[in-house]
Amino acid sequence: MHKNLLSNRLGIIHRRLTYACFGVLILTGLGWLYFHYFLSVTTDFGQVPHPLEVWWLKLHGLVAMAALIIFGSLMPIHIRRAWHHRKNRGSGAVMVAAMIVLTLTGYGLYYIGGEELRPFISWAHWTLGSALMLMLMGHIALGRRARNAGSKTC
Ligand code: HEM
Ligand code: HEM
Repeated sequence: MHKNLLSNRLGIIHRRLTYACFGVLILTGLGWLYFHYFLSVTTDFGQVPHPLEVWWLKLHGLVAMAALIIFGSLMPIHIRRAWHHRKNRGSGAVMVAAMIVLTLTGYGLYYIGGEELRPFISWAHWTLGSALMLMLMGHIALGRRARNAGSKTC
């Protein structure tokens, strides 16, 4: 059987799309944070958001939808097969949990108002989001290590 059919590696296009989408997702979130907290503009009317701030969020919302499609595309083969074969389950479960919480808090940022709750949802969303890059890197490193260890014993 072809090697790729046995391993959990993604096809090259699938892998590149996943990296690009998650990279831009995280970058746009961090971009918004930087503009929001460090680049607001002082005018005669006081502190106002930088004119580009909103564009980071518009892009972020767009890429978030694409990230959810990518997430869905990983379920039938990547996640299902690895889960059945008990490969990289721990860090995979952390990735899935993070995606679910990011989606729910992202939804909350759109639809749950309230002076008290919104800042908390925002904080929960972006702290977890900022850690997503490290989680993904850890997930990939652990997955590769398991593959290499497996291939040595085969
Ligand atoms: C949001 C969820 C997930 C994302 C975004 C994700 C993404 C990735 C990416 C980009 C790779 C590197 C693939 C490559 O080098 O071709 C990878 C590797 C891997 N993932 Fe996931 N994954 C997720 C969930 C899971 C889950 C839940 C499991 C296990 C049940 C899992 C098991 C693995 C394994 C075993 C590898 C190593 C593949 C290899 O190099 O042989 N992943 N993952
Ligand atoms: C599944 C992944 C994610 C989804 C579905 C998602 C979704 C969303 C949505 C819907 C919003 C509200 C947009 C608006 O108000 O116009 C938002 C805002 C935001 N997201 Fe994400 N996001 C995800 C991942 C991330 C990541 C990885 C980061 C990295 C830092 C991040 C950082 C932010 C920030 C800073 C905001 C603005 C918070 C605020 O308005 O107070 N998000 N996200």
